[in-house]
Amino acid sequence: MSVIKRRNRFDGGEVLISRFTISEALRQRARSMIPGGAHTYAKGDDQYPMLSPGFIARGSGCHVWDVDGNRFTEYGMGLRAVSLGHAFPAVVSAVVRQIQHGSNFTRPSELEALCAENLLRVAPDADMVKFTKDGSSATTAAVRLARAYTGRNMIALCSDHPFFSHDDWAICTTPMTAGIPERTAHLTLTFRYNDLAGAEALFSSHPGQIAALLLEPAKEVEPAAGYLIGLRDLCHRNGALLILDEMITGFRWPQTSAQRYYGVAADLSTFGKALGNGFAISALVGKREIMQLGGFDHDRERVFLLSSTHGAETHALAAALAVMDIYGREPVIATLERQGRRLQAGAASVVAHYGLQSQFKLLGRPSNLVFSCCDRDGVPSQIFRTLFMQELIRRGVLAPSFVVSYSHSDDDIDRTIDAIDSALRIYYRALNEGPEAYLIGRPVQPAFRKHGDVTRATV
Ligand SMILES: Cc1ncc(COP(=O)(O)O)c(C=O)c1O
Repeated sequence: MSVIKRRNRFDGGEVLISRFTISEALRQRARSMIPGGAHTYAKGDDQYPMLSPGFIARGSGCHVWDVDGNRFTEYGMGLRAVSLGHAFPAVVSAVVRQIQHGSNFTRPSELEALCAENLLRVAPDADMVKFTKDGSSATTAAVRLARAYTGRNMIALCSDHPFFSHDDWAICTTPMTAGIPERTAHLTLTFRYNDLAGAEALFSSHPGQIAALLLEPAKEVEPAAGYLIGLRDLCHRNGALLILDEMITGFRWPQTSAQRYYGVAADLSTFGKALGNGFAISALVGKREIMQLGGFDHDRERVFLLSSTHGAETHALAAALAVMDIYGREPVIATLERQGRRLQAGAASVVAHYGLQSQFKLLGRPSNLVFSCCDRDGVPSQIFRTLFMQELIRRGVLAPSFVVSYSHSDDDIDRTIDAIDSALRIYYRALNEGPEAYLIGRPVQPAFRKHGDVTRATV
């Protein structure tokens, strides 16, 4: 195979980023103190090439600077938590203003009610809301509530969606089951996305036992016509609840929530991530009849529903209010979609140029793009994923995905397309000559795996 080189702005002398000295030293210290070297698995060393920024010092808009002073255009944006951009001025001002008035009192702040009102507009079929700090707690609360409301113990998760919570009921479906009692794992079932018949069969094989079905409304694959409403109706016919996890789709899909966009009212749903633009806030919302079991205005047995010391920190609520205000006034989601489409179109032309349509793919909605890397035979390859990320990093693009923010400008996207061009040129050569000549160090590993030795030798 041979292709003529495309012209891009790296032509005529690329300055490649290669100095990670401080990151390297800090990495050793962090791994000796922190299991896995990071407090979030998806940010860990095993998820990134050897030649990569180990630690970020600061961010502004869509750019971040690592501890060695290297500057990157970032994608993924804090695991999709930062949809507006890092240190987004209107959010930072709201947070700073609030922090000066105190962040935690012995009674609730009025922001709790204000923020609830605003969030219920995003999920108009819901009547009540409880805030907490992270998405896992919100989905765990949804599961407990569904179990209490229905009087059933089993829960069914969509197996095509990788992560709902760090709690046992969800992690038991991954390979990392150590520490999870078997009897807990037996209570979690799985079903496939867009497969109504499969879900129906699950209800038939577990009659009267399933409390709820839980899934993301969409991921890389869109819901088939009638699927979500069909699933909700199926749940109701079988006495179960439908829980939609909008941690990613919320504030990223058109109309600010997938339930609004697809026109399906869930019984319970959860939001987080972009709701606080990087500040820790998430929420469980749902129908009054179910949610109120967590309160005291009813005669049924009460459910312990999301109560924690830091659950409603005022500055996180202030951040969420600022985020919702910005989404109400500015074309945030339209911009995410436009910039994603620009990137998609540019990448598609590069991929076509190198003839890599079977090796490199961008998947998902433009506001939420991920990439898949395959080897010569079209088989998904961690080696080629690592090589692609490595070559982007050398050209100043830090991209575990191509999830854009409101701060990605046309110029940022165009520079990224040029970096994709250069990275795919190397990818193309590596397909022909073997990746060993190009990849520095070991490949990345799946975050959910039973054993971790693979990267130990590289520290
Ligand atoms: C769809 C989905 N649900 C729930 C969670 C858990 O959220 P958190 O990491 O804030 O606990 C995540 C996190 O990545 C997620 O992607």
